[in-house]
Amino acid sequence: MKNRTIFTRDNLEVLRGMDGETADLVYLDPPFNSKRDYAAPVGSKAAGAAFKDTWSLNDTKEEWHGLIAEEHPRLYKVIEGAGAAGGRGDKAYLIYMSMRLLELRRILRAGGSIYYHCDPTMSHGVKLVMDAVFGRANFRNEIVWGYTGPSNTKRYFPRKHDCLLFYVKDRGSGYYFDGEAVRREYVKLETGETGGIFKSAATLDAGGKIPEDWWTEKRDGMSPVGRLKRERVGYPTQKPISLLQRIIAASSPRGGMVLDPFCGCATTCIAAEKLGRQWIGIDISPKAAELVKERLLNEADIAPARGGGMLLPKGYVIHRDDIPRRRGAAKRSPPRQIKQFLFGKQEGQCGGCLQTFEYRHFHIDHIVPTAKGGQDIDENKQLLCGHCNILKSDRDMAHLKARLRELKITR
Ligand SMILES: C[S@@+](CC[C@H](N)C(=O)[O-])C[C@H]1O[C@@H](n2cnc3c(N)ncnc32)[C@H](O)[C@@H]1O
Ligand SMILES: [Zn+2]
Repeated sequence: MKNRTIFTRDNLEVLRGMDGETADLVYLDPPFNSKRDYAAPVGSKAAGAAFKDTWSLNDTKEEWHGLIAEEHPRLYKVIEGAGAAGGRGDKAYLIYMSMRLLELRRILRAGGSIYYHCDPTMSHGVKLVMDAVFGRANFRNEIVWGYTGPSNTKRYFPRKHDCLLFYVKDRGSGYYFDGEAVRREYVKLETGETGGIFKSAATLDAGGKIPEDWWTEKRDGMSPVGRLKRERVGYPTQKPISLLQRIIAASSPRGGMVLDPFCGCATTCIAAEKLGRQWIGIDISPKAAELVKERLLNEADIAPARGGGMLLPKGYVIHRDDIPRRRGAAKRSPPRQIKQFLFGKQEGQCGGCLQTFEYRHFHIDHIVPTAKGGQDIDENKQLLCGHCNILKSDRDMAHLKARLRELKITR
């Protein structure tokens, strides 16, 4: 896939069509179940962009449940646990995101990194899911981005930080991390000591220090975009370029490929361009493609950074809305798809005893047995646990329900 490509499509379709081991860095800032729907103010550059940030099981395709349950049972347990604690909305969100994260893991190079930008609404669930997808040992940091702003909460502390969960694909493979590239000045503490308190002033690194895992407006100059007149395009969830620049500088080599599957107004793409990295952005909203073109033209320091200083030519950005196809993508066989579909439809419960079981304990059953004229079509199929399957044998549901009552399994 070519540098400077922006896709207008659901990212799952695009990610499925991307070749494996091609990205050095993934940054994602998805909608995070904030129970709010966002819309850009009318009249702003981003007007027309709106996206939903509330979730229900209707947002997840039935077979995703089954696919995760069958192929990634540990991940499924985590999601079920989060659902037990937080409800169906949380479960739906994590299933939706897991489908994307599994593809992103495949697309990352062995030495690559991923940063998942979220907030405390779902960071606890996301972290467990990331552990299950990328491996606990590949967790590197939970970075807190703290800021200030007006708030009218009176019964708890104002919520003014985001979380960035940083994982590498494979800790053992010498992953890329350039702390030198992001050193910043020491901060004088009021006690007279410096931020690097273990070193005397004389031995402090002239280049400053590698920042800690908490970044702030004051120390790191990362203000919420609402206050950055020069950057603001009116996109409701726009992130500051300085935040993206630090991530890209630390976690991708020059010329490396940066991928943002929820790119919004393309902050990641702009930051990557400034730092001489390649980039691919995906967003379901067509506004994203417009904004990236506009921002590339307007950000004065981009062209000189490329050594040119000329205006960017037309067609500088490749805009696609097709579904890419990768070589060797496995087609899934229909019988597996139907089992996965039914698993999702029944939300992991047996159609007879209504108990929850692991995927492998289920059998496909004809609701009206074929011996009694039932058809071999999907609408006549359900999943039963092994026990119910034996109890029902080749009889109908009335028989199974009666047997379950006799055995006091159901009432
Ligand atoms: C929180 S915003 C990203 C903001 C971005 N970091 C920036 O600085 O502008 C999330 C974006 O995800 C997009 N989105 C939501 N669901 C998507 C999907 N399934 N595929 C692609 N993009 C999606 C929305 O249109 C929205 O622009
Ligand atoms: Zn059963």
